[in-house]
Amino acid sequence: MKRLLVTGGAGFIGSNFVRWALRNWADVDVVNLDVLTYAGNLANLSDVEGDGRYTFMHGDITDAALLDRLMGEGIDAVINFAAESHVDRSLMSSEPFVRTNVVGTQQLLDAARRHGVERFLQVSTDEVYGSLGAEGEFTETTPLCPNSPYSASKAAADLLCHAYHHSLGFPAMISRCSNNYGPYQFPEKVIPLFLTNLFEGRKVPLYGDGLNVRDWIYVEDHCAALGAILEKGSLGEVYNVGADCELTNLDLTKRIIAACGRDEDSIEYVKDRPGHDRRYAIDSSKIRGELGWSPAHDFDDALARTVRWYRDHEDWWRGIKSGEYREYYQKQYGGGGGV
Ligand code: NAD
Ligand code: TYD
Repeated sequence: MKRLLVTGGAGFIGSNFVRWALRNWADVDVVNLDVLTYAGNLANLSDVEGDGRYTFMHGDITDAALLDRLMGEGIDAVINFAAESHVDRSLMSSEPFVRTNVVGTQQLLDAARRHGVERFLQVSTDEVYGSLGAEGEFTETTPLCPNSPYSASKAAADLLCHAYHHSLGFPAMISRCSNNYGPYQFPEKVIPLFLTNLFEGRKVPLYGDGLNVRDWIYVEDHCAALGAILEKGSLGEVYNVGADCELTNLDLTKRIIAACGRDEDSIEYVKDRPGHDRRYAIDSSKIRGELGWSPAHDFDDALARTVRWYRDHEDWWRGIKSGEYREYYQKQYGGGGGV
């Protein structure tokens, strides 16, 4: 791996991936392009700021002129994490989702194509497949049937990547991963939201009957899978990524509560999310068989590690939850949003 452009590297998975790449690839140069929305936080990468192989660039993936300049300086590979990523927000306003997830991906594809980028990995999600019933798993050939504006915008970006490869010979690959958890996840997503609520002595809002199923993977395992795809994946292919860890939200919540030493009175059943996908489950046999990747973390150990991380990094999440962080970024970069 030579000069790698990571977009959205100041977010949850992107920042974990930047750290993973610098640790695993001695000869890599990482350029992190991030516009720092409410979900982007440079504190996520303060430990690598001094690494001579790492550069941060503040900017937007929809900015064609900036992408032209950046890729003109020589980029060998692109991995696109930059996105609006929260389903509940997409139900309130889909405009930023279409702008970043669809138009941003198109601008990246065009710039990468103009400048002869050799490999382009689109970081997508299992949510593009829609919802499963009680049986079965998503494979790479499951038809796309996205149900939220978030997953619809991700599916649109996947289709652009497919079309650029099919018709233009562009070197795109797509990964579709299940729900991630681990350090630096923004506390609007269920695991860090519930953990931090419990640390604050508050209740946790469980949607509907709590029986929706998600398939969980530790973020480091996802990063290793992305590394394997970037290095060894075949151009034009889709790779599902998952760790065979299906849990109902209720079961997940009970484990989180137990890990925090609280009792189940902390659960507050609240109104369901509109259009709430019932079940996700990933068949990841293709990446395991073809690229030799498999997850290295057990759910209970990695959840315990995640709980410890949030306990030890109270300043990180308290700042975000209190709104100080929002004010800081508003002033600094004009970004909006919050928890
Ligand atoms: P996140 O919301 O934590 O981070 C997104 C990052 O993108 C932020 O740093 C943000 O500032 C940046 N960004 C947003 N708009 C931008 C723009 N226009 N230009 C440049 N940067 C921009 O998201 P995440 O959870 O880390 O997810 C990263 C990617 O992985 C997303 O594409 C998401 O769809 C995908 N994914 C996430 C999960 C999950 O469980 N979180 C699972 C599978 C796939
Ligand atoms: P989330 O972390 O938003 O991820 P996604 O919607 O992309 O799967 O939600 C994970 C599951 O947890 C999902 O079924 C919705 C549920 N959930 C709650 O029950 N309460 C909450 O406050 C949140 C944020 C999510």
